[in-house]
Amino acid sequence: MEKTFIMVKPDGVQRGLIGEIVARFEKKGFQLVGAKLMTVSRELAEEHYAEHKERPFFGELVDFITSGPVFAMVWQGNNVIATARQMMGKTNPADALPGTIRGDFGVNVAMNIVHGSDSPTSAEREIALWFNEADVNEYEKTI
Ligand code: CMP
Repeated sequence: MEKTFIMVKPDGVQRGLIGEIVARFEKKGFQLVGAKLMTVSRELAEEHYAEHKERPFFGELVDFITSGPVFAMVWQGNNVIATARQMMGKTNPADALPGTIRGDFGVNVAMNIVHGSDSPTSAEREIALWFNEADVNEYEKTI
């Protein structure tokens, strides 16, 4: 079953949006298989955002993601990578449609509430970077 990495960023955590975001993915029918509230080291932030290293906003991005706890998650389900991207909306909340997470709650492109893997390759890389294999729970719904 397909898996993706989703992270509620420090702005989402501090604005009390963890429950709202988890609820949206649960109600869609996706399955939460890993989750942790954690303060991110600069090393992990730089590795996670390595593809943006040459961008002018890289320093700001790393400062922001390390500024307070994030809620890191692994979600599982059919086509979860692309569907989660649709549910999050465009990267810049100004371009994100109402009904999407960023469209409903985002403030600006730096504080855009949530991150989600953009492809199967990214999902595999990001899940391995953020989670030990033992902390990704495989389970069938029994109730
Ligand atoms: P995310 O999906 O976490 O992946 C890369 C992030 O870079 C993106 O969301 C934005 O939050 C951030 N980003 C993109 N463009 C800018 C920008 N111009 N200034 C600051 N942050 C940016």
